[in-house]
Amino acid sequence: MAKPRVLATHRLFEAARQILQESCDVEYWERPERPPREEMLERVKDKEGLICLLTEKVDDELLRAGPKLRMAANIAVGFDNIDVAACTKRGVVAANTPGVLDETTADFAWTLLMAVARRLVEGDALARSGNWKGWDLDQLVGTDVWGKTLGIVGFGRIGKAMARRASGFQLKVIYTDAVRATPEAEKELRAEFREMNALLAESDFISLHTPLLPETRGLFNEEKFGRMKRTAFLINTSRGPVVDEAALAAALESGKIAGAALDVFEKEPAIHPGLKRPNVVLAPHIASASLETRTKMACMAAENLVALLQGRRPVNVLNPEVLKG
Ligand code: GLV
Repeated sequence: MAKPRVLATHRLFEAARQILQESCDVEYWERPERPPREEMLERVKDKEGLICLLTEKVDDELLRAGPKLRMAANIAVGFDNIDVAACTKRGVVAANTPGVLDETTADFAWTLLMAVARRLVEGDALARSGNWKGWDLDQLVGTDVWGKTLGIVGFGRIGKAMARRASGFQLKVIYTDAVRATPEAEKELRAEFREMNALLAESDFISLHTPLLPETRGLFNEEKFGRMKRTAFLINTSRGPVVDEAALAAALESGKIAGAALDVFEKEPAIHPGLKRPNVVLAPHIASASLETRTKMACMAAENLVALLQGRRPVNVLNPEVLKG
């Protein structure tokens, strides 16, 4: 019997290709650039499965173009690129890759935090420039991390992994979330709940770990920056549109906050020009980008897809109602 046809919008890693090859006939998008929309619309026409990146929009138009599609398997935990309601309406299962990238992403949020506090990127530039004249007492003085207060916005798996790393730096951890953590989790992570405004006023570092939802879009706006300490830093490894970039640029320009370290942007790959400042560390959306983790993410997406196509229940389904009945 012919194997089901699948479109993979990336060449993936060998381990993920192995998982797919057993039960699917895969057409890989092998080129280094992301597939143009017209290519996507054309290539999904005869496919039963789609394995895609967060850069591909899976919306009603795409689903209409691929009437045979049974699953869209995203290689990301965030799924704001997928219109899950449209998938459900058309009976297409949507899946993501939660759990495997939490620790790696928290590692990177800490990397950003440390880099901006201790001015590592400016230091690297000076060390390479040929202009470094040697040790000086007030050269590139940054701000201490240890002993300060870390405010975590969004206390899910990644937010908690961020908190877990704070004890070595003797940081006080406060968090805010729509859902309060259990007393056991608060105790284990030594994290105290705060309402948003209290967190903004108290934190020296604010790290964002919330998904992009209608209620979190533009969450960090002029009003929020106005409530932060002038000495505070914002770290974002969640999704760009959670922060109003123009408002952030203005807050940095006027000294309302001390700096920022950003892995994600409102309109990637564009970056607001007002963010290209020495007190901002910029990264190109790589928080989960360790070889181990990206391989696990690709394998998880492949397993989600293969499970469905083999008639088993995939683990990471975003719209389980499609599987009922
Ligand atoms: C990366 O940003 C992800 O959502 O996995």
